[in-house]
Amino acid sequence: MPMCGIFTYYGQKNTAPNIVIEGLKKLEYRGYDSWGIAYKTDEGLEIYKETGKIGDVKIKDLDLEHSNIAIGHSRWATHGGVNKKNAHPHFTENKEIALVHNGIFENYLEIKKYLQKKGHTFKSDTDTEVIAHLIEEHAKTHNFEDSVKLATKEIEGRYAIVVLSKDEDTVIAARKGSPLIIGVGETKGEYFIASDIPAFLKHTKKVIYLDDNQMITIKDKTAKFFDMEKVEEVEKRIIEIDWDEESAEKGDFPHFMIKEITEQKDTLQRAINQTPETIEKIAKAIEKAKGTYFVGCGTAGKVGMVGEYLFAKIAKKHTNFTFGSEFSNYKNFLTKDTLMIAISQSGETADTLEAIEVAQEKGVKVAAIVNVESSTMARIADIVIPIKAGPEKAVASTKATTSQLAVLTLIAYACDGGVNIGKQQLINTAGQINDMLNPRYEKHIMDIAKKIKNVESMYIIGRGANYPIALEAAIKLQEVSYIHAEGFAGGELKHGPIALISENTPVIALVANDDTKREIISNATEIKARGGYIIGVAPEYNEIFDFWIKVPDVGVTSPIVNIIPIQILAYQLAVLRKNDPDKPRNLAKSVTVK
Ligand code: F6R
Repeated sequence: MPMCGIFTYYGQKNTAPNIVIEGLKKLEYRGYDSWGIAYKTDEGLEIYKETGKIGDVKIKDLDLEHSNIAIGHSRWATHGGVNKKNAHPHFTENKEIALVHNGIFENYLEIKKYLQKKGHTFKSDTDTEVIAHLIEEHAKTHNFEDSVKLATKEIEGRYAIVVLSKDEDTVIAARKGSPLIIGVGETKGEYFIASDIPAFLKHTKKVIYLDDNQMITIKDKTAKFFDMEKVEEVEKRIIEIDWDEESAEKGDFPHFMIKEITEQKDTLQRAINQTPETIEKIAKAIEKAKGTYFVGCGTAGKVGMVGEYLFAKIAKKHTNFTFGSEFSNYKNFLTKDTLMIAISQSGETADTLEAIEVAQEKGVKVAAIVNVESSTMARIADIVIPIKAGPEKAVASTKATTSQLAVLTLIAYACDGGVNIGKQQLINTAGQINDMLNPRYEKHIMDIAKKIKNVESMYIIGRGANYPIALEAAIKLQEVSYIHAEGFAGGELKHGPIALISENTPVIALVANDDTKREIISNATEIKARGGYIIGVAPEYNEIFDFWIKVPDVGVTSPIVNIIPIQILAYQLAVLRKNDPDKPRNLAKSVTVK
């Protein structure tokens, strides 16, 4: 059950395998346990798979034949260990069918048993291999295209698949709940199919968005689209996108993570730059709603938690936050007057999408604060608020987080009738971040990174809107440094966790110059009295700090400025500890499994 990246080439160029490998390298952030390609030759289907990261692969070292049709996959393993046999593409006994898959095939065991009875044998532990065999089974009595259609009808769960058949110069792809985007090449009859746009940006900016329950068949240099629910052919529009390739590349930066942290000089400004209509629409929806839920996962979830505080403080409105995976527990309270505000960088997170499904079944209106505007979430939401952060490639979210925080702040102000005050506040914050992000600042943080790089545990405390930021800080530190880090509400430590503090335990105190300041300082003082080493992230120095990281004094937007030094610290710890900050172990960028 992989989440993974998919890339496909169909066209006149006879270097399809190489084009696919290059494309997969740009999708590696989606999964990097193993990779593989399948391509058509005169003899049939060739399949090549490897474990490890595709980014390290040198095409010239591979002995690949010429072909003008190839599919490929970079995997994030869930079901079935990381090994060659579980790597994609999966194929049937005689290599009749080869297939790549991103998603969850929930009823695969049942179908596997049925196929085993029919004589199929399986080589891997994956659900994906079962789809290949299912298509082959249908192909006994149907043509290739109909066999894929019939197989998809039997798959319960989410999928994006691309299929090749040994006997035909045809590519078939279909999706339900997992992303697939078609790139239309510059020469007639050339197509790319990928999980994300940056993978084919080098080749084309013309895209077709495949919707859920749609299938594309590319045959005889022509693409045809089919709606599997309506059981009819559909016309699709080609859209010209304005992304540039450079924004999806590392440039002179050693890693995407530090590039994206640095980009926060500009991204905040872009996030604020919303059309008045968008802000008005969402503010009105909040005003009208009887119950507003922020929903997100991981970092985006923490942004939703900050949302609760921002709305309480700025808009004087009660809202609720729930993780995507927990949302269905509240379904008894949902009515057509409820509003859900889903927050997501990728717009493809399965838990959040599932929450939206639950909500929409109850007639709930859904607004999405998303970065990827072509994503499933953006396409199914009633109101879309794009954060315009540009491609975020590092697995650890940084620039998308602060942009989401900025958008939520703006909306909270709009709900209080003060959108311009909010804008001014955020413009000021963006300016201060611009001044803050400089090599001297990074060097100062490096001093503390060097000091704590070998600690076993560290803690982060915050109060008010900086409490969820303490939780987010812990995620950042955990995922790239692999140091045990935990965030707490400042006032909660004395109720238990303070027992964890011993001599020199690093504790980061996130301080804002507001009504929480006095108390967070006294919480930090309690920790210091027990031997803790206090790293103060604060606008002003305080004598209890053993190390001070200065942040601008920005009032209500303190969550935005307070998370940035922690992003830098997490990045530096990862580098010092020789971890790959862009591709941390066990993780993937787009979590399309539940
Ligand atoms: C952590 C991180 C994840 C994501 C989460 C949701 O740095 O990036 O916790 O925030 O997987 O992803 P999106 O925002 O794409 O829905």
